Amino acid sequence: MPRQKPHAQKGALRGLIRDLCHWMQALFHKKIGWADFFWVDFAVPTPTLPRMHRLVLLVPAISFLALLTGKTQDTPKVVAPTAPDAAAMSVIFQPPLTALDRLPRSAEDQAKVDLGRHLYYEKRLSSNNKIACNSCHLLDKYGVDGLDFSLGVPGKPVGRNSPTVYNAFFHIAQFWDGRAPTVEEQAKGPILAGKEMGMPSAAAVVAKLKGIPEYAPLFKKAFPRDDDAVTYMNVGTAIGAFERNLVTPGRFDDFLAGKPSALTAKEQKGLKTFVTVGCVTCHTGPLVGGNSYQKLGLVKPWPNQTDPGRSAIVGNDAFKMFFKVPSLRNIEKTGPYFHDSSAKTLEEAVAKMAKHQLGRELTGEQRGDIVSFLKSLTGKIPTKYIKKRPF
Ligand code: HEC
Ligand code: HEC
Repeated sequence: MPRQKPHAQKGALRGLIRDLCHWMQALFHKKIGWADFFWVDFAVPTPTLPRMHRLVLLVPAISFLALLTGKTQDTPKVVAPTAPDAAAMSVIFQPPLTALDRLPRSAEDQAKVDLGRHLYYEKRLSSNNKIACNSCHLLDKYGVDGLDFSLGVPGKPVGRNSPTVYNAFFHIAQFWDGRAPTVEEQAKGPILAGKEMGMPSAAAVVAKLKGIPEYAPLFKKAFPRDDDAVTYMNVGTAIGAFERNLVTPGRFDDFLAGKPSALTAKEQKGLKTFVTVGCVTCHTGPLVGGNSYQKLGLVKPWPNQTDPGRSAIVGNDAFKMFFKVPSLRNIEKTGPYFHDSSAKTLEEAVAKMAKHQLGRELTGEQRGDIVSFLKSLTGKIPTKYIKKRPF
């Protein structure tokens, strides 16, 4: 190796800075250990400073920084290599969910919520007086009925799996294809849908509600400035107000808020796998999903192509098989999975996602770890809030 001439001070300085940056970066990312450091430094000559000068300058500088930050590979107090950094995770999944029903509400808002709760459980909002929102989205069962396809008034299965109503108000839009912008708009759909609650028209719903004497004062209290408060729009607004407090914070939120022990070692390993294999490119944000539309079968075509998804809404074939990325909050409790209910277990769903969205086969261990992470997304049902009240 030719000895370098000690000329060109500028070049040497630049080289020194580059070397410093390089080594610090490597050390901070724990990509190398001290042994590698010495080996590489001797093995790879750089045309900057003579080797001895570099060592004399770099070793104390880097040692000092490494000791200061405790970032070297052999520092025992660094978290186990499988543990994801809570701070990094909270960037991906920020911010933690909080129980909104603990927030103070004005008397009028409280009246809307109370009316919405009554309407949510109201079977008389259906043509045969047998089906309420709660028939398909059971609030004490994490907002689902556990069926492949729910049964509406005609007793026939509906076309898609019923998603949960918990945390739904937080989504980019409602339904698998995002065709309703808000929970308020969404709520007006099923009441008039022939396959669901089967009421013939908005006017028929209003007439029916006006015939139930308990409702008039509740509507008046919730919408005090309306001359005629019993309207179809107000039905949607009240149910939406009730749904906007269906939040289920859980252990994952404690983890995001800076308490690593809230998740077990296996769940943390699963979270890391979930991030590194790429699930997080779509299932991101506080709900671990719910904030974008993506093609189902992005890498490998989805076996069931009967439902066109979002292309039917936007009228553009480019969006065929695009669906809203669902939230994975409470996913353990909301099977069967996918709009077509084509996976019965969570492990099956994870394997299908890896294959069709990412083009990869996961090992049994990876699937198991991801499933245990997903189970840590189960939150607390707000039992008091959802309790059906007498009029
Ligand atoms: C017969 C069963 C049934 C009834 C009754 C029903 N739903 Fe649904 N709900 C579904 C199905 C199925 C979907 C998904 C439909 C789709 O995406 O096309 C859905 C979707 C939703 C969504 C969207 C969630 C998301 O993640 O996008 C919300 C919110 C919701 N329903 C609330 C309600 C409310 C409020 C009522 C009562 C007014 C109600 N549902 C009545 C079956 C039902
Ligand atoms: C390219 C985007 C994308 C990637 C990557 C992705 N998903 Fe999904 N995921 C979706 C979409 C879209 C759906 C909705 C599918 C549907 O319409 O049936 C979904 C649905 C799911 C469901 C079912 C949710 C429900 O309520 O039925 C689970 C579970 C799931 N994904 C887990 C994962 C896991 C685990 C990974 C990583 C191995 C992953 N996803 C990677 C887009 C993605």
